[in-house]
This record gives sequence, structure tokens and C-alpha cells, in this order.
Amino acid sequence: MNAIIGGTGIDRILSGSELRTVKTKYGDVDYYALDGLAVIARHKADHSLAPSRINYKANIQALCDLGVENVIGIYAVGSITSRLSPGSFGIVEDFLDFSGRSLSFCDGVDGPLRHTGMVRCFDKRIMTDFAKTLYKAGEKEIRSGIVYVTTSGPRFETPAEIRAFRNLGADVVGMTLGTEASLIREKGLGYCALAYSINWAAGLDEEGLSFLEDESVERLGRKLLSFCIDTLSTR
Ligand code: HPA
Repeated sequence: MNAIIGGTGIDRILSGSELRTVKTKYGDVDYYALDGLAVIARHKADHSLAPSRINYKANIQALCDLGVENVIGIYAVGSITSRLSPGSFGIVEDFLDFSGRSLSFCDGVDGPLRHTGMVRCFDKRIMTDFAKTLYKAGEKEIRSGIVYVTTSGPRFETPAEIRAFRNLGADVVGMTLGTEASLIREKGLGYCALAYSINWAAGLDEEGLSFLEDESVERLGRKLLSFCIDTLSTR
């Protein structure tokens, strides 16, 4: 089985699909059953969960309990560099984590202490399949090599933080990927992360911080979700 974990806006796109629940030792997780895929809305179906309140361990354990082998994470982000400007999406290939969340399945509490390597965190095969899906759909530009910096949220960043993150090599900023990626890696699932940008990060546009219209965000989210479904249905 394959899965998608989606963020802001995915709940609106999926409303109407069948919602099921899986019980895990970390808590219950709702997911949409869609074309043979399990789709988790990480902020919950009513978008009520702040990034710091998401039950990340339950979500990833749910994927394991459902027998998921490959997962695509979809992340709404703010743009720090023009490698991924607002209105576009791309493949994340590395990340920085300033979230302060140090969740782990391998910290000696649930099982033996294990230090997990993060060098090959993202699965090249899924990335290649995704690129093929885009190519077949006639998408002209495939943006890859994106570096994501994770903040704790729910507040947005300050302009000084964004300048610092840019100097550290980040292209986009969001509040969830670092936490999710570490847990997925610990479980050894095939994982690909896609970011779609809905704003310039704090201080980078004239208004200070402004977002794409809801309609544009929804259109972008829908398009990306359908590319993800096509990609995973070939596996
Ligand atoms: N900062 C953090 N997370 C985000 C942003 C942002 O500017 N845009 C979308 N998610």
C-alpha cells in the first residue's frame, strides 16, 4: 500500500472521500481511502491542529500498521529563494530543522536507542517516478533540489530569521517536514517530499507577508495531489 500525507488545504480537496480510522499505540489516526491509497490530512479534516500539536508519531505508526511502503509528503511553504517561487511546486531533497521537536521512535523509550542516518532520507525512485508523471502531463519545468527549513510555528518567522535561513542555504520554510521526515526515516519507509509555495517568506515582499488567493492555493494543491496519486498508482 502507498500513502500521501498532505497539509494545508488538502482537507478541503478530500472532503467527500471515505474517512476511516486506524488505532495505533500512539493514538487514533483518521485517513481518507482514495484510489487504494491512504491519505492523511496532517492538520486534521477541519484544519484544527497547529504544527506543534500534530500527533506525528501516531501518523507515521498508522502508515506502518496499514502496511504502507511508499509515502509522499506534500508541504505548503513560504519561498525564501526564487528556486521555488509562490505558485510553483518542487521536489525537496534536504532540510534543516529548527522546530525544537525531537520526536523519535528510536530514543531508547519505545525500543533500543538507534542513531538514524539522514543522508539518503528521500527516495530517488519515487522522485524519478514523480518527474516522469510531470513529464507525461506536459509540465515544462521540474524543480528539484529544494532545501526546506522547519520552524516550530504556529507563528510565522521574523524577517531576520528568514535572512538567517537564506544564509544557511534554505529555499523554502514550513512548520512540519523536519519532524515528519525524521520519523519516516526511522521506520525505513520510501519517502518523497514535495513543497508548494503559497507566499514569499516574511520580509521578502512589499507587504511584508502576503499569501496567494485561496482559489490559487486550492488549484495548486489539487494539481499536486493528482500528480502524487498518478505517481503512486504506478508502483
Ligand atoms: N512560514 C512557515 N510556514 C509556512 C509559510 C511561511 O511563510 N507559508 C506556508 N507555510
